[in-house]
Amino acid sequence: MICYEPMTAADLDAVAEIEQRVYPFPWSRGNFADSLAAGHDAWLVQEHGRMTAYAVTMRVLDEVHLLNLTVPPELQRCGRGTALLAHLLQLARNATVRRMLLEVRPGNVSGQALYRGHGFVEIGRRRDYYPAPGGREDAIVMACEL
Ligand SMILES: CC(C)(COP(=O)(O)OP(=O)(O)OC[C@H]1O[C@@H](n2cnc3c(N)ncnc32)[C@H](O)[C@@H]1OP(=O)(O)O)[C@@H](O)C(=O)NCCC(=O)NCCS
Repeated sequence: MICYEPMTAADLDAVAEIEQRVYPFPWSRGNFADSLAAGHDAWLVQEHGRMTAYAVTMRVLDEVHLLNLTVPPELQRCGRGTALLAHLLQLARNATVRRMLLEVRPGNVSGQALYRGHGFVEIGRRRDYYPAPGGREDAIVMACEL
């Protein structure tokens, strides 16, 4: 049974543990705590009591910015990212959001494929957006009109 639940402070240790395993430059526990404190929407996918994905979004006027979407390594490529993104897009549509935006690393082909499959298109680049080994790297900005 799959449930979508709001992320709370009680989830932060488990979220941060997954985050450290997924990304070379992960969000810290404090980054997630700051995000919750700032009023961002954060969601967990729970399956049989186990967290299997999470996401953080920020609403600004009639846009939603997808700040984080993560599936633990051992559970990837089984449809969970697709399901959570579809859930977020439906929530946004229900809230009469005009479009969803996100940044993705140029080398993240799986992320880009997931987003393209949901109607996201590249709309620009942000120079030196991400930390990278030995410096910074640009972000691809993608948007989905709702
Ligand atoms: C990107 C991510 C959220 C996708 O979630 P997922 O549950 O693994 O993906 P799904 O099983 O739902 O796959 C959806 C689509 O994404 C693409 N995709 C997912 N994993 C892929 C891979 N390893 N290689 C290529 N494409 C991939 C495919 O288009 C796939 O559709 P298909 O299976 O019909 O070909 C997940 O892999 C993840 O957390 N990756 C690390 C963190 C990350 O990069 N987050 C996004 C940051 S912008």
